[in-house]
Amino acid sequence: MTTISHLTCEYKTDPLGIDVLRPRLSWQMQSDRRGARQTAYRILAAATQENLGSGKDLLWDSGKVVSDRSLHVAYDGSTLLSGQRVCWKVQVWDELGGEVESPSAWWEMGLLKRCDWQAHWIGAPFWGGPRTSSPAPYLRKEFQLSGQPVSARLYATAVGLYECWLNGVRVGDALLTPGWTDYSKRIQYQVYDVTDLLRSGANAFGAILADGWGVGNIAWLGRQHYADRPMLLAQIVLTYADGSQEWIVTDRNWKTTQGPILESDMLMGESYDARREIPDWCNAGCEVSSWWPVEVFADSGAALCATNGPAVKSQEVLPPVNAYKIPALKPRWICDFGQNLVGHVRLCVRGEKGTTIIIRHAEALNPDGTLYTTNLRTARNTDHYTLKGEGEEIWEPRFTFHGFRYIEVSGFPVKPDADSISAVVVHSEIPPTGKFECSDALINQLQHNIVWGQKGNFADVPTDCPQRDERLGWTGDAQVFIRTAAFNRDVASFFTKWTLDLEDAQYPNGVYASVVPNIVEWSIGEGGPAWADAGVICPWMIYRCYGDTRLLETHYASMQRFIDFLTKTSKDGLRCYDGYEGWLGNGDWLALDGSDGREGGTSKELIGTAFYAYSCALMGKIACILGKEQDSSDYAALSAEAREAFVKRFVHADGTIKGGTQTSYVLALEFDLLPEELRSVAASELVRSIRERGDHLSTGFVGTPYINWVLGRFGHLDTAYALLYQTTWPSWLYSVTQGGTTIWERWDGWTQEKGFQDPKMNSFNHYAYGAIGAWLYAVAGGIDLDAEQPGYKHILMHPRPGGGLTNATAELQSMYGLIRSAWTLADGRFDYSITVPPNTSATVYVPAEAVAQVTENGQAAHSADGMTFLRMEDGFAVFAVDSGSYHFTSSQG
Ligand code: BGC
Repeated sequence: MTTISHLTCEYKTDPLGIDVLRPRLSWQMQSDRRGARQTAYRILAAATQENLGSGKDLLWDSGKVVSDRSLHVAYDGSTLLSGQRVCWKVQVWDELGGEVESPSAWWEMGLLKRCDWQAHWIGAPFWGGPRTSSPAPYLRKEFQLSGQPVSARLYATAVGLYECWLNGVRVGDALLTPGWTDYSKRIQYQVYDVTDLLRSGANAFGAILADGWGVGNIAWLGRQHYADRPMLLAQIVLTYADGSQEWIVTDRNWKTTQGPILESDMLMGESYDARREIPDWCNAGCEVSSWWPVEVFADSGAALCATNGPAVKSQEVLPPVNAYKIPALKPRWICDFGQNLVGHVRLCVRGEKGTTIIIRHAEALNPDGTLYTTNLRTARNTDHYTLKGEGEEIWEPRFTFHGFRYIEVSGFPVKPDADSISAVVVHSEIPPTGKFECSDALINQLQHNIVWGQKGNFADVPTDCPQRDERLGWTGDAQVFIRTAAFNRDVASFFTKWTLDLEDAQYPNGVYASVVPNIVEWSIGEGGPAWADAGVICPWMIYRCYGDTRLLETHYASMQRFIDFLTKTSKDGLRCYDGYEGWLGNGDWLALDGSDGREGGTSKELIGTAFYAYSCALMGKIACILGKEQDSSDYAALSAEAREAFVKRFVHADGTIKGGTQTSYVLALEFDLLPEELRSVAASELVRSIRERGDHLSTGFVGTPYINWVLGRFGHLDTAYALLYQTTWPSWLYSVTQGGTTIWERWDGWTQEKGFQDPKMNSFNHYAYGAIGAWLYAVAGGIDLDAEQPGYKHILMHPRPGGGLTNATAELQSMYGLIRSAWTLADGRFDYSITVPPNTSATVYVPAEAVAQVTENGQAAHSADGMTFLRMEDGFAVFAVDSGSYHFTSSQG
């Protein structure tokens, strides 16, 4: 039976408040049948459920479209208005001529025009100074309703952070709203359905504001980057049964005061004095005679845009796995949560009024069991809670987050345990999509660490690290990790949002910034090779993983400006050439083959030119996908010029590369910069260098992501596995053997000989080296992208066992449904189970010397249903396979 499910609009299920004028609709086909596929579809959309049911007054009827397309079909009905709700469903015809209808879904438009906003920016009078934070303002206003509305929407945003409240109830459960953008250019608003929170008669509308990214400390660069105090913009639009509407907005009639949150800063922490709570502050009738009038601020002119990315929320709760006391005058407890994580601690405690509990956070411990906090630099990461002394008190900070595995708690009345203390894990809502598991426990722990590195660094923007005074959207880090990120989690809308940030952070000359959002242009500036190139690589990777051509379209002009910048600032095809006066970049960041331990030993001119060739080559492909043929050949020509310049400048006639670093070989091979005849020599040189170092890599952020791909591609899979299995540093498994539960920033973050690396830059939760994850899924596991058919419309299933692995399972919830590739190798027999989702197909590689050795479900494989034998290739029998589940065995594994 065929069913249709997973209806999404702009990657979301029933999104409330989007501002995409022609939103794209996607659905999944479910069927156990081999070869199940869509042959046609028809989308119906209407303003109400009733109209959708009756087919009357439709907003859009696509008509029957003969097509197998089930992703990103753009709405093409009547023009959508602010606040408009659209209900939709799809009819699908399958390959047997059967017809099936999906359940219905909906989306609702946000506020599309500036004049839809009647609210004013408001905030508290100016408290504190530029260097010090001030208590979080509480704001409120009462209003009367003449009846019960049939629908009500709250539209809210802030510079700084906000929480809205209605009649004593907190609205929604998102954290760190409105998220981080360059507030001087674009501010996201959120939309909430508040129909059930309102009532006829007196109502109270409240908000709590905090410093957040808008006002508080960012990195090591101080406070007040976007505003001197937090500001709120909010309005409720309510509709009565007769269709009349009413607006309740932020304006000069609001009042403000200080409450229990005495300090709140993303890096420093939050201080809460429960004795200062204001009971009923957000209920009608609260005494407010001592509250101040709010200040009203002029609109900055920044665009207000809907939140099309995922919200940040509490995702899971971990208990402490261990707690012990540190002897001192005042008792201090250390709790270990067993996992380096990002979020905050929740307390559940009884005690005497006025007792202050201090919670400090750290990723690691000193040898004496105390917290190691030196690597946090100036980030205080300390929360305070003062008890009001009234029975059980439950508290968690709401406007800060910390990266930690351990906490030190002082002032705690009892020994902390799972009932009194827990860790709340906070990150963007990026649903899990991938799973990788194999027969090696250390590699499984590596995969676990990669996933936790991602969870810890996806808080509205992809950050380098979540703990020290940095937490910036470093473009290079995001670029190297994006493919792995897209296996582990659904990051399509997360990166849709961040690629807008990238464009916001583009300089007038076309170059992309080092960090995005770019708050610090004067001190960090241009990205340089492999960092700025994120502006091309990230949209490209989202296109490949999710089939999203609109993202390419959206950013095409911006990417063109970047390539123009590169062309103008390069000389004879060389980027960052000898004598170039601009920024040369970070080099092969943190590679250990350089002289300073930071920038590695690979020439910046080589890295620059390699990325110039690569970005231009990608642009050639992007232009072709968008049907811009002239552009496509122009970019291909630019790429060829850079490639030739690379060879002339860096490659000797015998195929060796000047400088000879591993990263130079990796880039030359990965980006196809070498003439065909020199490639195998270059690959052998790379292997020689790895062997010479005792099967160790010497690559940094730039070379590491590609090294195993290149080795596998050029016939050195054994060396790729040797690197994977290596447990002494530099290697992926070294930190695993040292008890790491996330990916470390440095290969040698801690060693027996030297202890902790330089605390000035030593994060234990930095996802960049986790980029090996994509290789695990694709090569060890066997789920890979087809260059011609993005979004896994066609899947390459080509597991390459090695290194003594006896089994591996990779799974991916693609937009088409579950892709599964699971193999076991025992007694010379290769067992291979795969699932290819409906409406897709796959090319499957089964290790064998001849097709006769391969069976599918007990039958000779070449005659099995749903598949065709294509050829023998390099020790694999290759099949074209329709959707469905298959079980292969090969006697020659
Ligand atoms: C960050 C990195 C980043 C690098 C580039 C560091 O401080 O933590 O991850 O890419 O700087 O300079």
